[in-house]
Amino acid sequence: MNNVTIAGIGAYVPSLVVTNEKISEFVDTNNDWIVERTGITERRISEGENTSDISIEAAKIALERAGVKAEDLDLIIVATISPDMFIPSVACIMQSKLNAGKAACFDISVACSGFLYGLEIANSMMKSMNYKNALVVGAEVLSKVMDWSDRGTCILFGDGGGAAVLKNEPSDSKGIIKSYLRSDGAKGEALTIGAADFNTPFTKEPQLKDRIIKMNGREVFKFATNAIVESVNEILKDTGVSLDEIKYIVPHQANYRIIKSAANKLGIDEERWYLNLDRFGNTSAGSVPIVLNEMYEKNLINKGDKFILVAFGGGLTYAATLVEW
Ligand code: COA
Repeated sequence: MNNVTIAGIGAYVPSLVVTNEKISEFVDTNNDWIVERTGITERRISEGENTSDISIEAAKIALERAGVKAEDLDLIIVATISPDMFIPSVACIMQSKLNAGKAACFDISVACSGFLYGLEIANSMMKSMNYKNALVVGAEVLSKVMDWSDRGTCILFGDGGGAAVLKNEPSDSKGIIKSYLRSDGAKGEALTIGAADFNTPFTKEPQLKDRIIKMNGREVFKFATNAIVESVNEILKDTGVSLDEIKYIVPHQANYRIIKSAANKLGIDEERWYLNLDRFGNTSAGSVPIVLNEMYEKNLINKGDKFILVAFGGGLTYAATLVEW
């Protein structure tokens, strides 16, 4: 029987490391505060590489590991809230630079939950359209939309991304077993990035947007903890899989305290949550594939292992996916 499996994973982050000490040179903060409240010690910041550049580097690694040629891709989905431009999409830019001529290409805007939404969209499309190979990317250059004078946000985020090559073929692995995708648009104002101004010869009142991240940190914190607990519980209930069968929970890397609080509420040992946010901060849609890539490179992922991926973010959106490698 055909299953949609993750056949290759890759990630890429810019080389510039920006420490908490460096950030405290231009906003009123300090290393101890940031580490204690978030768990983050450093993040990568782009000096000019755009979202498509990061996506392409991550994709090349994933394609190589999957043994898939770019020209054999049927689908490219990029989850990002910091695209190079409105059009062409990052996915179309990738198609051109990778020579993935026959792929259907589009971006999705689901903020930090984007990679998980992308996995499920690809999974469903591969089955309904009989696609063989797909590329799902989560990548961001959030530094472009950061307010570098706001200590409440600029300490949290980093740039980077990851990519997964999916195959739809007969396999012993069940691959993407189940997704739980939810949104709460009523709370959208808690985390926003403005887009283009509304200022035409016909507008009654021009609306000029702040093209920077604005966030109500406490509101997002509460939402995030509940979103993780609900998503993990729902995916377990829906599939009948027990916690003992899960090797790792792979959470979106926003804040150590959010994950600790959700882990306590769910009664799942902290050691079973894989974290690397200390070194990369919150890379939004990039965070889950960056973590998966690190786990893969540390040989923590073996055939047959089951993981729950869980994410939450702007929209507000949240999601969990049960995956067998
Ligand atoms: N350095 C030093 N002090 C800071 C600071 C910083 N970087 N940021 C805020 N503070 C100050 C505040 O001004 C406030 O001071 P006051 O008490 O004198 O008013 C105090 O620290 C507490 O602020 P508060 O906002 O209540 O802190 P917090 O414990 O909620 O931590 C966040 C702030 C942003 C770290 C936390 O709310 C958070 O992580 N929220 C979730 C954000 C997130 O993950 N977003 C992305 C989701 S995908």
